Amino acid sequence: EKNNFDHFMLKEIYEQPNAIKDTYRGRLHAEEGIIRMAGIDDNLERFLNARRIVIVACGTSWHAGLVAEYIFEDLARIPVEVEYASEFRYRNPIINSDDVVIAISQSGETADTMAAIKLAKEKGAFVFGVCNVVGSSISRETNAGAYTHAGPEIGVASTKAFTTQITVLTLIALKLAKAKGSMSNTDFHMHLQELETIPQKIELALEANDHIKEVAFKYKDARNCLYLGRGFNFPVALEGALKLKEISYIHAEGYPAAEMKHGPIALIDEEMPVVVIATRKGHYEKVVSNIQEIKSRQGKIIGIVTEGDTSVRELADHVIEVPDTIESLTPLITTIPLQLLSYHIAVMLGKNVDQPRNLAKSVTVE
Ligand code: F6R
Repeated sequence: EKNNFDHFMLKEIYEQPNAIKDTYRGRLHAEEGIIRMAGIDDNLERFLNARRIVIVACGTSWHAGLVAEYIFEDLARIPVEVEYASEFRYRNPIINSDDVVIAISQSGETADTMAAIKLAKEKGAFVFGVCNVVGSSISRETNAGAYTHAGPEIGVASTKAFTTQITVLTLIALKLAKAKGSMSNTDFHMHLQELETIPQKIELALEANDHIKEVAFKYKDARNCLYLGRGFNFPVALEGALKLKEISYIHAEGYPAAEMKHGPIALIDEEMPVVVIATRKGHYEKVVSNIQEIKSRQGKIIGIVTEGDTSVRELADHVIEVPDTIESLTPLITTIPLQLLSYHIAVMLGKNVDQPRNLAKSVTVE
């Protein structure tokens, strides 16, 4: 079942180009400039009249929600709040009948997310599900939804579920942006065409695997690791850190790059690897200056950069190149090397990659 892969996690990382195609198949019609999603079309008024969108999820799915916040607000100009389902359900949240709640869950069985959905429904909100497992409890409890179609995810560490969740949420944001008129036609078409090239670009990003393995070998004995990113790639930094900690048991933290100076910079010394997502879009110069600050404190820099980058290459100890794309779609690409890096480190440390200690694939207890 693992085909030629040593672990399900690696197989699922490599499945991402096809998983994303399966996610947008029948939905994305780039040539015609149309996105078809029954769950949105049938409830378009609810979405367009929503005062805000509240996203509830846990873990990696919560990170996909954070990426979606940037995408929805940027493209569709709808205010978004992203909440941990476990916090939302226990804090008497303010929910109105004109709110749309989007619940994201790979398994569709996460107890906290389910409880958050029930609470939102009680308060009259419209709840839309983004699930991977067809017929799961959450997909049945929600008012409408869109499946990710990533295929079964066996590895406990979520990989293809994350990128396909971002894909579905991007399609929704684009569809709403079009309906609202918050994007120009040219921009809308450009996004559709670019989204269609993402699977091919992920294939190219996967070609860095051998190089990433060499980088992994250098840092496998680190005790700590910092991940930095800005804008659309801030949640990717959080996700990169989560992947490393859950399968290799190395302590890792993700931060918005500019927050470094408000605390985490104190941690930086020659023992500290810092993975910086520094693609040549949004805030690039600012990220480069963050890299300079890390370098002057002898931190070890692993830069995730756009193909052909020179500025970061001059400063960083290692660079991992990814193909260029438009800013809002970069998370789909920058996530790939981070998944591979944690995978290789965990394998080198002899950890049980597919079934890390203390973790379960679906968390049906609160
Ligand atoms: C991390 C991971 C978990 C899940 C979380 C939510 O790799 O797998 O953090 O993302 O338990 O699970 P779902 O998406 O099934 O609700």
